[in-house]
Amino acid sequence: MTTLLTGGAGFIGSHMSALLLEYEHDFVVVDNLTNSDVSQLKKLEKFFKKKIPFHKIDIRDKSSMKTIFDRYEIDSVIHFAGLKAVNESVNEPKLYHDNNVVGSECLIELVCKYNIKNFIFSSSATVYGEPVYLPIDEDHPLKAMSPYGQNKIDIEKLIIDNPFFNTRCATKILRYFNPVGAYNNGLIGEIPRGIPNNLMPYLLGVVNGTYPYLQVFGDDYKTNDGTPIRDYIHVMDLVEAHLMALQDNKLGIDIYNVGNGKGVSVMEMIKAFEKVNKIEVPYKIMPRREGDVESCYANNKKIGEVLNWKAKHNISDICKDAYLFSQQLKK
Ligand code: NAD
Ligand code: UFG
Repeated sequence: MTTLLTGGAGFIGSHMSALLLEYEHDFVVVDNLTNSDVSQLKKLEKFFKKKIPFHKIDIRDKSSMKTIFDRYEIDSVIHFAGLKAVNESVNEPKLYHDNNVVGSECLIELVCKYNIKNFIFSSSATVYGEPVYLPIDEDHPLKAMSPYGQNKIDIEKLIIDNPFFNTRCATKILRYFNPVGAYNNGLIGEIPRGIPNNLMPYLLGVVNGTYPYLQVFGDDYKTNDGTPIRDYIHVMDLVEAHLMALQDNKLGIDIYNVGNGKGVSVMEMIKAFEKVNKIEVPYKIMPRREGDVESCYANNKKIGEVLNWKAKHNISDICKDAYLFSQQLKK
C-alpha cells in the first residue's frame, strides 16, 4: 500500500519523504516543481540508497493524476501541493485560487473515486487571522487575512462539506504554525526561491553573507521585548504528526493544530540562533510589516491527547539544524 504525496518535492513534502523512508513506508511523489526541484529528493535517494517514485504532474491535470492512482496501490494521500506566498497571493488572487482551490477540487474528486482510506490536508494557522484569544485552539473563529488564507479556508470547507470525508475516509486537517529547521544535520532543508519573506530563511541569508542584516519588522508590539511572537515548529516534528495522523484509521474529519505551543519573539529567535551557533546575527529595527499579527501560538492539547503527538525539538534545535543546512548549501 502506497501513500501519495502531492507537492512532495517541496520543503515539508521532502521532509515527509525522509521520515517515510526511515520507516520504510512506500510512497510516490507528485509535484509540478513550480516552487521546487528534485534536488532534495535526489539527496534522500543517495542517503537511503533507495529510488523515490517521482512524477512531474500538476494536480489539476486529472488524466495524468488518474494514471498515478491506477499505477500505484494508493490507499492514503497527503496533500501538500499549493502555492504559499502570502504577498504573491495578494497580487495574483486568481492564480492562487486556481492552483490551490481548483487543484484541491481535482484531487478530492480522485480521492473519492478511488475510495482513499486516509487523507491529510496541509492547512495553516493563517486561517485564524488576527487572534481573538491566545493560545489559539481549533475552535477559534476563522478569518482570512489574504487570498492565500482564504484558499485554505475554502479547501477546508470543500473537505468538511463532502460526505466522503465525513463517513468513509480517515480525514485529518492539520493547521501548521511556523515550520522551520532541517533534516539530519542539514542533509535537506528549505531552499527559498528569490528573496525570502520568512524569518529563518532570511536570517540564514544574513549569516551566510547574502544580506547585510536582518530587518526586524517592528519592536513596538505589546510583547515581552516588543517584537512579534510566533510558534516555530521543527519540520521533523511537523512531519511526525502526519505519520501519527496516517496511523489513525478513525473515519471522519479531525482538525488539529500542529505547533510547539510556545510563543517565541523575533528577538528571542535571534538570541537563540546566536547562542547555539556561536555566530552574530546583525539586525536593524524597521517599521512593522503590513499584515503581521502581534502574537500567534497554538494550543496543541488536542493533537497531544488524541494522537499522542508531542514536539521533540526546541528552538535551539531548530536554529542549529537550519544553520547546518545552510552550511551544506554553500558546499
Ligand atoms: P513548498 O512550496 O516548498 O512545497 C509545495 C510544493 O507544491 C512545491 O514543491 C510546489 O512545486 C508544489 N505545487 C504547487 N502547486 C502545485 C500543483 N498545482 N500541482 C503539483 N504540485 C504543486 O511549500 P511547503 O512549505 O512545503 O508547504 C507545503 C504545504 O504546507 C502548502 O500547502 C502550504 O500552504 C502549507 N503550509 C506551509 C507553511 C510554511 O510556512 N511552510 C505553513 C502552513 C501551511
Ligand atoms: N520577520 C522579521 N524579518 C524578516 C521576516 C520576518 O522581523 O525578514 C518577522 C515577522 O514580522 C514576523 C515573524 O518574523 O513577526 C515571523 O515571520 P514569518 O514571515 O517567518 O512568518 P509569519 O508568521 O508572518 O507567516 C507564516 C507563513 C505564512 C502564514 C502565516 C500564518 O509564512 O504562510 O505564518 O500562519 F500565512
